[in-house]
Amino acid sequence: MIVNLFDLEKKFPEKLSEAIYDYYSSGARDEITLRRNISIFNNYEILPKLLRNVSSVNTSTSILGLKIGNPIMAAPLAMQSMAHADGEIATAKAMSSLDSIMTLPTSSNKSIEEVAPHSDKLFFQLYFAKDRKITEDILKRCYEKNYKAIVFTADAPRLGTREKDERNSFKMPENLTLANFKGTSFEKYDDYEGSSMSMHSDHLFDPTLTFEIIHWIKEKSKLPVLVKGILRPDDAAKCFENGADGIIISNHGGRQLDTAVPTLKQIRPIREEVGKDKLLIADGGIRRGTDILKCLALGANAVQIGRPILWGLAHDGQDGVELVLNILLRELVETMILTGCTNLNDISQDLITEI
Ligand code: FNR
Ligand code: LAC
Repeated sequence: MIVNLFDLEKKFPEKLSEAIYDYYSSGARDEITLRRNISIFNNYEILPKLLRNVSSVNTSTSILGLKIGNPIMAAPLAMQSMAHADGEIATAKAMSSLDSIMTLPTSSNKSIEEVAPHSDKLFFQLYFAKDRKITEDILKRCYEKNYKAIVFTADAPRLGTREKDERNSFKMPENLTLANFKGTSFEKYDDYEGSSMSMHSDHLFDPTLTFEIIHWIKEKSKLPVLVKGILRPDDAAKCFENGADGIIISNHGGRQLDTAVPTLKQIRPIREEVGKDKLLIADGGIRRGTDILKCLALGANAVQIGRPILWGLAHDGQDGVELVLNILLRELVETMILTGCTNLNDISQDLITEI
């Protein structure tokens, strides 16, 4: 019986080869940040408010003017067809049926054009290619296909090293492609002694970028731009000074810099730095409804879920992702009822005490 997300996590390895399981579940180096992203939630406790008439609860909100039924978004996750043949299309359909946003990654197995018809609430995650013509073309395709925002991942001037991928010589299976790069040399991975993915991204990613690039992305995409991977209040402020429409507080699920700070800890200081009106989304280690409430109470407007989407996909494609979302949504509603919150605006900082 599947009661919570951990039940799906337990089944996850049964569905996949060891190398793919390792790729999806690993963190960088000693995986300290990966584990801290989860354990940090126990450092924050909830001070519930009682007798607030919680007979009806509303989880809806809006992000960049886009109305959504709940604040639980799907994080960009590379190569989703390794978990289920329908890949990113299944995730897009599930997120649309739950009335929330999916961010399609640059490194997807289904293309911008293939995913577009399945949801009217799509963002696109950008890995900025050294060849600006490639980046410009991708941004143009997003605009033409009605994507609502660009999520520019700033924490990857190169990929962090996931040591299991090195040992496994991890490579995307031959039957799949990076669909957004069809017809270019980036469509497939070459063979490599270590992680082929790591070598691929060394060729693709532009490590010369600075904050000013946000203006360029906005101009070329004609879309709002969110910057993903921010952990410092001063970097958050610089993003907004350079025209960002929001930021995603994230350490990439512990996959980039090991021993980087867990994201939950940075929400409050970043909110204090940027003020109450700026859009802040957080991800990393969110597995429970109480985790979502803690992120929102500390100052996030919404959260993103990473690996649990893959657990759902591997379990049962679109239905599996819907299962993940429904479990989290039920837990969030229960948490709101038990803390005296009837809508997301009621989730205030004084609900949380830090150990
Ligand atoms: C990711 N993440 C990610 N981020 C990004 O900006 N572009 C990408 O292509 C990917 N790919 C990716 C693949 C896999 C397998 C994982 C696990 C993660 C990071 C992702 O968007 C998000 O920040 C984290 O996954 C959130 O942490 P949790 O929920 O997985 O703990
Ligand atoms: C990863 C990249 C693709 O985390 O973002 O594997």
